[in-house]
Amino acid sequence: MEIVLQVNGIEKYYGNKNNLTKAIDHISFNVEQGEFIGIMGASGSGKTTLLNCISTIDRVTSGEIKVGGKDVTRLKGNNLNKFRRDELGFIFQDFNLLDTLTAYENIALALTIQRISAKMIDQRIKDVAKNLNITEVLNKYPYEMSGGQKQRVACARALITNPKMILADEPTGALDSKSARNLLESMEAMNNTLDATILMVTHDAFSASYCSRILFIKDGRIFNEIVKGDDSRKEFFSRIMSVLALLGGEGDVL
Ligand SMILES: Nc1ncnc2c1ncn2[C@@H]1O[C@H](COP(=O)(O)OP(=O)(O)O)[C@@H](O)[C@H]1O
Ligand SMILES: [Mg+2]
Repeated sequence: MEIVLQVNGIEKYYGNKNNLTKAIDHISFNVEQGEFIGIMGASGSGKTTLLNCISTIDRVTSGEIKVGGKDVTRLKGNNLNKFRRDELGFIFQDFNLLDTLTAYENIALALTIQRISAKMIDQRIKDVAKNLNITEVLNKYPYEMSGGQKQRVACARALITNPKMILADEPTGALDSKSARNLLESMEAMNNTLDATILMVTHDAFSASYCSRILFIKDGRIFNEIVKGDDSRKEFFSRIMSVLALLGGEGDVL
C-alpha cells in the first residue's frame, strides 16, 4: 500500500518561554492510501493544530510532514498554494459554499483553475454527484438546499480535483443528527467507492465509528490507536466508547 501521509516527530509550541503551550508534543504516524482516519480527543488536546500543520495552514516547530513523499513543512509561496490547491481537499464545518453560485458551479470552480476542458469537468461533476446523491440539486443555489445537501456538495467540491487526501475538522459539528448521518455515509462512500483517503478530526464517537482507524490524542500526544478491522460500526462504536472512558474526565469527549 502506498503511504500518503508521514508525520514524523512533529512538535508545535505556541507562545514564548514564559508562557509556552505544547499544542503538539511529539506526534508520529503514517496514513496509507484509502484509509479513513479519525483523530479524536478532548477540546484543547491539539486536534485542530495537528490538522492545520498537515494542511500547511500552520507551521510545525519541529519534525517533518510528508505528503506523497514530499516534505510539505518546507514549502513556500507558490508551491505552498499549489500544494493546497492540487493535493488536498477540505471539508469545512460551515460548508464554505459561495452563495451566488449553484452547486454545479461551486464544484466546478475547483476544476476551472486546473485548465480542464468544460466537457471533462461536466463528466467528472456528474459522476461525483451521482455517487454523493446530489444530482437533483446541481442547479440549485445554497439557500435552496438542506444542510445535509450543502455538506454533500462541499464533499463533492473537496473530491473533484482527485486530491491525495481530504481533510475535515469536525465536519458534523453544525449538523442535526440526520444530516450528520447522511454526511458520514457520503464520506464512507467517498472512501469505499471513490477510494478517497480521508483524515477527519472529531470529538464525537458516532462520527468516529465510520472511520477505519482512530488515533486518540491527549495533551498533544497520541494516547491510543484502534483499527476497525472486521468490526461492525456498532462494535467499533463501543470500542471507541471504552477508549474514551480510559481517556477520562473531560465531558467534551463524550
Ligand atoms: N493560535 C494559538 N495561539 C496560542 N495557543 C493556541 C493557538 N491555537 C491553539 N492553541 C492552544 O493549543 C492547544 C490545542 O488547541 P487545538 O489544536 O485547537 O485543540 P482541539 O482542536 O483539540 O480542541 C490548546 O491549549 C489551545 O489553547
Ligand atoms: Mg479543534
